[in-house]
Amino acid sequence: MKILMAASEAIPFCKTGGLADVVGALAQVFGRRGHQVAVMLPKYREVEAAGLPLEAVPGRFLVPVGDNLERASLFKTRCGKAEAYFVDNPKYFDRNGLYGDSAADYADNDERFLFFSRAALEAAKFIDFRPDVIHCHDWETALIPAYLKLLYHTDAFYARTGTLLTLHNLAYQGLFGKDALFLAGFGWTHFTPERLEYYGGFNFLKAGLVYADRLNTVSPSYAKEIQTSAEFGRGLEGVLRQRSGDLAGILNGIDCEVWDPETDQCLPVRYGRANAAEGKAACKKAMRHECGLAGARGPLIAVISRLDPQKGLDLVQEVLPRIVEAGAQLVVLGANGNGHEFREDFRKAAARFPSAVHLHAGFDEPATRRLYAAADLFLMPSRFEPCGLSQMIAMRYGAVPVVTHTGGLADTVFEADGGRENGFVALQATAEDVWAALQRAIAAYSRGKEWSRRVGVAMSADHSWERSAEAYESLYQAVVSSPAFGRG
Ligand code: ADP
Ligand code: GLC
Repeated sequence: MKILMAASEAIPFCKTGGLADVVGALAQVFGRRGHQVAVMLPKYREVEAAGLPLEAVPGRFLVPVGDNLERASLFKTRCGKAEAYFVDNPKYFDRNGLYGDSAADYADNDERFLFFSRAALEAAKFIDFRPDVIHCHDWETALIPAYLKLLYHTDAFYARTGTLLTLHNLAYQGLFGKDALFLAGFGWTHFTPERLEYYGGFNFLKAGLVYADRLNTVSPSYAKEIQTSAEFGRGLEGVLRQRSGDLAGILNGIDCEVWDPETDQCLPVRYGRANAAEGKAACKKAMRHECGLAGARGPLIAVISRLDPQKGLDLVQEVLPRIVEAGAQLVVLGANGNGHEFREDFRKAAARFPSAVHLHAGFDEPATRRLYAAADLFLMPSRFEPCGLSQMIAMRYGAVPVVTHTGGLADTVFEADGGRENGFVALQATAEDVWAALQRAIAAYSRGKEWSRRVGVAMSADHSWERSAEAYESLYQAVVSSPAFGRG
């Protein structure tokens, strides 16, 4: 199949979170499985900084934005088994951040991403890449299905193209005023509750929910949660229920070559399952030295996270003194997100307990690798979690996860499950439950044999993409053979 993967981030070019890992990995997996994959991304400043060789595609094309025509050009590079294309328009994308600077989101994100979504459709025509499926991700590219159904339905180039929209996080919807509707090129006839209107405004994600041929979320549990409660559906649960028959839950995987403690060049000592105890002990010693932490009888607990309320960092704050009292240590590696207050709180905690708590603020992938390897426990008490990759990466590096029972965490971490016990689970996102799970984990850590077994189970869990890739392929087939809307 010809697959156009349209997204706002993808490794190895630009990343703020798990979305980038997933888009980058899927492109490679489908490439390996014989599909022709073109990834379409904005040409952010960060893409240049990634240092991969970019080749300019000769010529330019025009993209309607409101009453104007914006110019766009394309760059491309080969990346493993996929081709990657970058839509260039410096006015929109030559900036410090992907979505905002350290203070706030960019005020023109509606214009930036409606431009990008429409540019992706024009770009595919420009390079004559006629996709069977356009695979869109999150609100930033969720207008593409609406464009195809409402503005490109008479365009022969796209007569046989279907769309899949993957929902990575309902907390981000791209909610704007109705001016954005006209900027996007839609009109009053489209501004109805059944179509694009959302409480008097324009919600990009809703547009995708209404017009994509198929939908999926990134874990089976989250697929259920978002249809059954407003807490998870965030106001879109009604639309999601209407599309229930077209909505699947496919668990994310991780790229087991990218995340492998046996070959990871960032680690002071590399290790596999057989020598995990020695390898991790050496990595932990180096990490303690790096963070200025003392030796300790208890486990080293890691938090590696976007600093966002989603991640339950207030719960980590609440149990932090008890962690220290129990003789354990905590290293927090956090960046991005909307949680400036968390950074301050962890900074204060590190000042209060300098030999037991350390904060590394910033986006630093090599540091995350060293910390996954050094950690005994990986704490992720999310209030909701569409899937979560960090807990899977942690397991691969032998850091046993302590998580809340929600979304993808519930689908990947098991405390008591005949042979699959790979972590510890707090049933509710409360400080009491999280602390109880941590206590069980700390106690298990002190029982050497039981601990090695749990580390072994965690490290051998299969989180590879292959099974999920098949599920995506069936969705692609469904998009092509039985689209939710007529073609042409
Ligand atoms: P989310 O996408 O909600 O942030 P995931 O668990 O799906 O959560 O993915 C997070 C990804 O971002 C993982 O690859 C994780 O290692 C990475 N990450 C988290 N915090 C940092 C950080 N401070 N620096 C670099 N990478 C980070
Ligand atoms: C989102 C979610 C996370 C998921 C990631 C990739 O950022 O918060 O749970 O793993 O997308 O799908």
